[in-house]
Amino acid sequence: MSTATRTQTTVTRIGGRIGAEIGGVRLGGELPEEVVAEIRAALLAHKVVFFRDQDHLDEAGHEAFARLLGTPVAHPTVPSADGRYALGIDSHHGARANQWHTDVTFVPAYPAFSVLRAVTIPPYGGNTLWANTATAYAHLPEPLRVLADSLRAVHTNEYDYAALKPDALPEALAQYREVFTSTKFRTEHPVVRVHPETGERTLLLGNFVQRIDGLTGQDSRALVDLFQSHIERPENTVRWQWRAGDVAIWDNRATQHYGVDDSDDHERTLRRVTVDGDVPVGPDGAPSRLISPENVPDPSFGIPSGASATA
Ligand SMILES: [Fe+2]
Repeated sequence: MSTATRTQTTVTRIGGRIGAEIGGVRLGGELPEEVVAEIRAALLAHKVVFFRDQDHLDEAGHEAFARLLGTPVAHPTVPSADGRYALGIDSHHGARANQWHTDVTFVPAYPAFSVLRAVTIPPYGGNTLWANTATAYAHLPEPLRVLADSLRAVHTNEYDYAALKPDALPEALAQYREVFTSTKFRTEHPVVRVHPETGERTLLLGNFVQRIDGLTGQDSRALVDLFQSHIERPENTVRWQWRAGDVAIWDNRATQHYGVDDSDDHERTLRRVTVDGDVPVGPDGAPSRLISPENVPDPSFGIPSGASATA
């Protein structure tokens, strides 16, 4: 399609601090460069962007589009759906994402972008919320910004799944735990990450955080809760009511998200393709570091998320 005839791309803000809907785009691997540039600019500005009516996308088209944003990476421990990069997010299997988190922060170079496509959506509920971790930082009172700048935290994929999903069957929880933590990762990140593209400072926390360095468990918990409460303020968030065929893309370096678990036993199926990120650095320039294992091992398919940590 030539530039002269293609539909005008529209970007419509949804929230005051985060979220925009993009119209006039049919996603796929063949998008013109200037449209990809428009999407990327909107994504960096608004942190999460939404597209309606992308029902034409299948696994291959989804992945081909994601490649226009960067290199797709496999989840470091969870096998991908159909041997592709797309990770299945299915209400009937595993734990639900009803905790505020940034994807895969238990490895150093966690994904830069996630591209999530709605396949089957329940008749009610199942919304997803995103929070802007750059505006969360910017709106902190100065003494708290100074404190956050000085902190580092350990993130891990090993935490209490039973507490996360108390009504799950013990066998289901055990199986999920076994797959998700088949390799136990521990990574030290700065609590404030300087965004590699925008230069903004962002708060890097979420549910993979185990402990703030140098603090007791109690003090660590209290501080994480304090900063996390600023991230989760409603003014700082946007909530998306899914329809089948929707696509959401978020900047995983400047957001946290939360999948609301309120659609009872109705089916909810989404596919996620993540794009490789780089190793975070704090305000002092100190990078994140993998504590254990020694390297991010190869996943069952493709290259792992966080692979560039060892490059
Ligand atoms: Fe997630």
